[in-house]
Amino acid sequence: MAVTIPTHRYTSDAFAALENDRLWPRVWLLACSVDHVASAGDFHELRIGRISVLVVRGDDLELRAFQNACRHRGSSLCEGTGSGLSELRCPFHRWSYDLRGRLREVPSRRQFGALDNYSDLIPVRVDTWGPLVFVNLDADAEPLPEFLGAVPDDCAWARVDEFRCTAAVSIAAPCNWKTLIDGFSETYHVQGIHREMLAMCDDVNGPQHVWERHGKLQQSYGVASPRLREPPDDQQIWEAFVEVMGVRVGNYAQADAGTAPDVPAGGTIRSAIAGIVRDRGVEAGHAWFSALDDGRLLDMSQYNLFPNVTVLVFADMMQIVRARPGATSDDACMDAFSFERVAPVAERPRVKPIDIELSPDDELPVGLVLNQDFANFGRSQRGLHQPGLTHFVVSPTEECRIVNLHKNLEEFLSISPSEIGSA
Ligand code: FES
Ligand SMILES: [Fe+2]
Repeated sequence: MAVTIPTHRYTSDAFAALENDRLWPRVWLLACSVDHVASAGDFHELRIGRISVLVVRGDDLELRAFQNACRHRGSSLCEGTGSGLSELRCPFHRWSYDLRGRLREVPSRRQFGALDNYSDLIPVRVDTWGPLVFVNLDADAEPLPEFLGAVPDDCAWARVDEFRCTAAVSIAAPCNWKTLIDGFSETYHVQGIHREMLAMCDDVNGPQHVWERHGKLQQSYGVASPRLREPPDDQQIWEAFVEVMGVRVGNYAQADAGTAPDVPAGGTIRSAIAGIVRDRGVEAGHAWFSALDDGRLLDMSQYNLFPNVTVLVFADMMQIVRARPGATSDDACMDAFSFERVAPVAERPRVKPIDIELSPDDELPVGLVLNQDFANFGRSQRGLHQPGLTHFVVSPTEECRIVNLHKNLEEFLSISPSEIGSA
């Protein structure tokens, strides 16, 4: 039976205020990559709704996080991302803290008397999974490994520790953060807005799994969608693969696919494309690629981490999309993180990723598919505001990861599940 979800969850500032109070301060949040804060003195700010958290690598190389608020009159201490800090100095009246968050210096300190209980920065819990840094403002929340549950083991084969973040692109999006992340929680929309993918991916039969908090889709590439009445030939599958993800076979322009690779007798174009990914991986120093089957080499494992992150794991690359709420329930920010696999891991120093902030009018350097997703956000959000549309309808199977987001949201916000009805 179809599931209905109230649209006001996506359009009401009162609902966004509830999320500000009960969700963001209580859940594990992806803050940045380890590469953003790899060296002593590196810092990175996570801003999400009204929350601002600073992740800081100390001179003892410990990773710490603090609420970004000076203990004097509350000013934020740092913005964005950076390196080379030897202290955290408030720009307002110049109180300063060491990288462990301890108050170090107060101009005209004698004027204040004793400051013992109001001195150090307010700590935030911080932990990592692979190349990802997570923070949680709730001292009582479950530890990160418990929160992530089965996800790390499920993709242990992909050795996510070997991924390094190379770039993070942030773009303001004209929609609610859930409109944004829902776009990465189902592939039912491939036939709608990513029609180029139909000749190179099975958008219908990919198994989905829902854990308590998180979700997963496994999707096959190098095969045609069963939705196509006229099955494409090998050349068409190859051209579509290059158009959508040519970087994986060394075609960085993702144009001019050329002639499809030879398919040996009894073989498939999928196997031939997987062979290219295998050879490129082995050449790049990942000898273990030679033992991976075609599915591992080509297919996508998409994880949906509650509440606002999707992690796309491939043998040869990883991408992350994070949705952050903006100033109103109609504003969000899309952050797209790119990762590449390095080998040998121990010999590759971590380099600060390139962080790019774009306006929606800029040409988005995020690839064909993400651009198509982005173009859809405003259209989706506008429709959700129409007064007759009090609820929308989702499939409990095809869109089970969206249903799961709402179940978890209800738990965090302590709102009645009865708000979700059946069509
Ligand atoms: S608010 Fe930071 S020193 Fe005054
Ligand atoms: Fe999409």
